[in-house]
Amino acid sequence: MTELTLTTKTVARIKADAVVVAVGQRDGNPVLLDGADLPRSVTSSLTALLPALGVKGGTDEVVRAVAGDGLAAEVVVLTGVGPADDVELEALRRAAGAAVRSLAGTGDVVLALPAETAEQVGAVAEGALLGAYRYARYRSSGPAPVARIELASPIARTKDAKAALARAVIIAEGVSGARDLVNASPSDLYPQSFAEEATALAKGTKVKVQVLDDKALRAGGYGGLLGVGQGSERPPRMVKLSYSPARAKAHYALVGKGITFDSGGLSIKPAKGMETMKMDMAGAATVLHTVLAAAALELPVKVTGWLALAENMPSGTAQRPSDVITIRGGKTVEVLNTDAEGRLILADALVAAGEESPDAVIDIATLTGAQMVALGSQVGAVMGTDELRDEVVAAAGSAGEQFWPMPLPSELAESMKSQVADIANMGDRFGGMLVAGLFLKEFVGQLPWAHLDIAGPAFNEGKPRGYTAQGGTGTGLRTLLTVLERAAAR
Ligand code: BES
Ligand code: MN
Ligand code: ZN
Repeated sequence: MTELTLTTKTVARIKADAVVVAVGQRDGNPVLLDGADLPRSVTSSLTALLPALGVKGGTDEVVRAVAGDGLAAEVVVLTGVGPADDVELEALRRAAGAAVRSLAGTGDVVLALPAETAEQVGAVAEGALLGAYRYARYRSSGPAPVARIELASPIARTKDAKAALARAVIIAEGVSGARDLVNASPSDLYPQSFAEEATALAKGTKVKVQVLDDKALRAGGYGGLLGVGQGSERPPRMVKLSYSPARAKAHYALVGKGITFDSGGLSIKPAKGMETMKMDMAGAATVLHTVLAAAALELPVKVTGWLALAENMPSGTAQRPSDVITIRGGKTVEVLNTDAEGRLILADALVAAGEESPDAVIDIATLTGAQMVALGSQVGAVMGTDELRDEVVAAAGSAGEQFWPMPLPSELAESMKSQVADIANMGDRFGGMLVAGLFLKEFVGQLPWAHLDIAGPAFNEGKPRGYTAQGGTGTGLRTLLTVLERAAAR
């Protein structure tokens, strides 16, 4: 990963390939936000250049110019933050991310962005490191991410700034790790290799890993995972991650959907709908890296992660529409559509998670296409018990992720009545996201619970923006980590 250090050095004198400066908007005009101590001569000549450079100061606007006299760096990069007064932390993250992304292939970069508080230092660092992300596993050429970044801040030497940087690095490593898993080819990432990867990543950390193979799943009655996985040559796995610090304030169980490829099974998807379905394990990737991040931050909260891993394939051994399966704990499900597989594997995992009576259960899943119909591709949905649901939405707001609360109207549950089993895995088409949430609710019991549907935001099919690359986004990690941090601070 890109190396990032804090500095109190005078920006103008730092030798670098590029120096990044923020431009905001005031009264419709672009204004330089002198976060650093740039010499007056530099700021005034740059300011005079803004109109000619076409700089407006809007978000996701990045313009390069020759640095000129007064700066030891070669190039100045102007990055837009939008409204100049009260620059939001998320605007800083995005501006830093967009600038660093545009500088791929560059060696040394100085960030002279607003970084006067520890929160700002954290936001700039987080945005910069996330913006530097590039997925190159299968590429034989192309630019490398920025090698080194110096973040200029007047408080660089304070304990708070150092802690904010350390947290940003842990978050960036986690989000990048989750993105890598999502972006991996499903020929390389399947339940067993995912479990091995989780085991390798946890080695040397305070996270313990337990892998249930197909034999253990049969013995444990995990009929959801076994049913969904039975059409694949690659058997399912359940991975249990335990971070259990000495003086834990609370116990959170995190459950992730880990369908390493979702073909739909015998209820097969059309070709177009399958193109992005390697990302159907994004929830599990997020849970894995959230548990690792909580341990790296040494949060005084017990966290148990459950990764429900299976590949959903059609074959002669695949489950059939109308098959009845038994979820762990004994409830039966009539599988009317094998493409509604996520809720089946999550049901097993939610039951297993609940058996330990944690204080709260949060699941995260690319669960329904209906989520994208409701909220588009950048906003995730949160359902569940009122208090925890609102806690998650609030945490997302401060973490810089977009999540919106959604209801679980009980009348919709009736549409899942089965003629032969306790429940069917399909219901009304309208409100499909809520129906899926109501299905999961049947397996949670009385615990505080939140369900995050990230079908849209887990994967960026569009252009890169801000600190968000194309492909896997790592959505949910920052929100879940913030929930855990807040529990730790209570
Ligand atoms: N993994 C999909 C949901 C999905 C779709 C995520 C598009 C991201 C982008 C899920 O397993 C699925 O196929 N859901 C079905 C459920 C339906 C059959 C009740 C859906 O949403 O169409
Ligand atoms: Mn599906
Ligand atoms: Zn799926």
